[in-house]
Amino acid sequence: MHLSWLNLARAWLHSVSREPRQQCVVMEGMHLSVEAHSKIESAASGVGPFLRNSWYVAGYSQELDMQPLLARTILSRPVVFYRDAGGNVAGIADRCPHRFVPLSKGKIVDGQVRCGYHGLGFDRTGKCVHNPHGPTGALSVAAYPVQEKLNLLWVWMGDAALADPALIPEFANLDEGHHHVRRGYLHGRAHYELMTDNILDLSHIEFLHPGLGTDAVGRARVDTTQDGTIVRTSRAMKDEVLPPGLAYVYKSGDQRVNRTMSVDWYPASNMVLQVQVEPVDTSTSWRTSTQTLHLFTPEAEGSTHYFYVGSLPRATADEETADRFLAALSNAFVTEDKPMIDAQAQMVGNHDIMSLKPALLPTDKAAVLARRTLAKLIADEV
Ligand code: FES
Ligand SMILES: [Fe+2]
Repeated sequence: MHLSWLNLARAWLHSVSREPRQQCVVMEGMHLSVEAHSKIESAASGVGPFLRNSWYVAGYSQELDMQPLLARTILSRPVVFYRDAGGNVAGIADRCPHRFVPLSKGKIVDGQVRCGYHGLGFDRTGKCVHNPHGPTGALSVAAYPVQEKLNLLWVWMGDAALADPALIPEFANLDEGHHHVRRGYLHGRAHYELMTDNILDLSHIEFLHPGLGTDAVGRARVDTTQDGTIVRTSRAMKDEVLPPGLAYVYKSGDQRVNRTMSVDWYPASNMVLQVQVEPVDTSTSWRTSTQTLHLFTPEAEGSTHYFYVGSLPRATADEETADRFLAALSNAFVTEDKPMIDAQAQMVGNHDIMSLKPALLPTDKAAVLARRTLAKLIADEV
């Protein structure tokens, strides 16, 4: 199912567009004991509540070209997204108040959603504005603030009065005039924090992704910092020859290069991964780069929407390179990350992993900082 979605997505995507290896010890110097963290976490994630007052990616603009009524469950709530008469994206609860069928099985009439069962119609505020059988009365469904920005659909599932569009993260490198932008999706059968942990600890690429990692990953220097609620971690890999697929993307051939991977995490679960590659031999000067957005949206406690968006500068990459970059990412995510994380989720079960007292390695620092930050934000909300 996910692969078929991906294939479909590829069709329209074209038209629209590593800290030195360390011993296995409990991490020190973070001023956060496992026990303390677990107390926070057990109240705030895993089997606990979501961060509601936050913008989540609900989909891509282009999806509404393919399916005008886009049904997607976000934070365990069914939502239908569509364009109103003005072309603006709206999101209302995907459950008719009459017989509880999905409104997404209906159609759009005059910019309103008409239920496909008995014809009730709802506007973007969720108010019933059409009833072929009598007065509309006070019938309504929930409506959610939605924003469309750079082909991403964002939804706010919390207090609508707090839904400030200025809180949407500012992602660079999405302007298609200067960048090739490629989009993909996969559905994860895991809690979203297990999936964000994956990106925040890229030590795994040496072991899980033979096409992406070399032994330089383990030898790399890792720097992790926190800037307000943003967690940043970078991995500087020195003196490696990239695997063939990456050598093609970064135009490094068989040269020895230095590669830096930097991840910025924004609560609740959106990340920017920047990769810079440059030659070790400073007598030549070139630099190539890529950016990948890793945008995770909880579908429910045990499943996650994973939107990923690759950007390559048109100045250094052509269409073929962009296509191969996304194909390499998709292959890694679908055939390597997903099976591992889905299997991990089965082992963790319906628990917050931190409550199970996992062994913590130094490489877990960024993930633990992000989890702690998110737990605090959630705790402040309830
Ligand atoms: S179920 Fe929607 S109008 Fe009857
Ligand atoms: Fe991975």
